[in-house]
Amino acid sequence: MRKLLIFGCDGQVGSALVSLLAPRDDVQVTALDIGEVDLTDDAATAAAVLDNAPDWVINTSAHTAVDRAESEIELAHQLNAVAPAVIAQACAQCGAAMVHYSTDYVFDGDAGRPYVESDTPNPRSVYGRTKLDGEQAVAAALERHVILRTAWVYSPGGKNFVNTMLNLAADRDELRVVKDQFGSPTLAEDLARVTLDIVDQVESGGVASPWGITHATGSGVTNWAEFAAAILETAGVDGVRVTPIPGSEYPTPAPRPAYSVLSNDRLHDLFGLALPPWRDSLARCLAQR
Ligand SMILES: NC(=O)c1ccc[n+]([C@@H]2O[C@H](COP(=O)([O-])OP(=O)(O)OC[C@H]3O[C@@H](n4cnc5c(N)ncnc54)[C@H](OP(=O)(O)O)[C@@H]3O)[C@@H](O)[C@H]2O)c1
Repeated sequence: MRKLLIFGCDGQVGSALVSLLAPRDDVQVTALDIGEVDLTDDAATAAAVLDNAPDWVINTSAHTAVDRAESEIELAHQLNAVAPAVIAQACAQCGAAMVHYSTDYVFDGDAGRPYVESDTPNPRSVYGRTKLDGEQAVAAALERHVILRTAWVYSPGGKNFVNTMLNLAADRDELRVVKDQFGSPTLAEDLARVTLDIVDQVESGGVASPWGITHATGSGVTNWAEFAAAILETAGVDGVRVTPIPGSEYPTPAPRPAYSVLSNDRLHDLFGLALPPWRDSLARCLAQR
């Protein structure tokens, strides 16, 4: 039976992975979060991998609070760069392969066209910079790694833009939302499904060279204001107006890329996979909420 170890199992993507894996009897899952192993403890992190001796580690844990990372630089570096390196080194030691996640925020957003995997990153925030460090550390430590760069992740229960908009709409009649930052909303469950499809394909020997970075986001492009309007409309919220505003009217500690759309061509060409259009996934998420 295949052994799989998940870090970050209480997070958006981690909990989606655990749910999708629950009915499967061909996979033995060990699911860990901060309650079991604190990823600021390098020795405990390495021991968790080595003691479990899994076939695959899927690391969904991260410091994902993009604005807080600007003032929590050391913690962001530890969780986004050091811990993935420790996990990858332990994987190399025990012969495991690894799936790791990164972000559209490794790019500066100035290209004005979808980024491909070979584009040069130029992060503008601590979050983006530490995630890029994590990518490079994983790649340096472990040949058999898949890094999925994703974006704008949401889920029915997590801390995310969808739930923030719905909570704000409960006691306001206007939401002022940024219109000039473009990206691709990604439902955690869709990303989890694609992750497990990739693991299954690699295990069955179906892909000659699966290793390296692959972009994986929901299909289609939107901006935060259009996304907010779609959330309210799909959830059936009446009487709340979305007013599109320029990003300059909503300054944040961490600068955001203007256009951080990722091309999913490699995901399609290499693995034959695609995530659904973002509006379809949004409707599914809201139906589950
Ligand atoms: N969310 C997005 O919009 C987004 C966009 C692009 C890329 N990504 C990447 O996608 C991956 C999955 O994101 P996600 O949204 O599923 O993340 P998430 O919901 O924030 O989950 C991350 C998990 O890591 C845990 N964690 C935090 N500090 C820890 C520590 N010291 N030790 C052990 N675990 C710790 C968190 O616990 P607590 O909740 O208790 O802190 C949480 O359960 C990450 O690599 C992220 O960088 C996410």
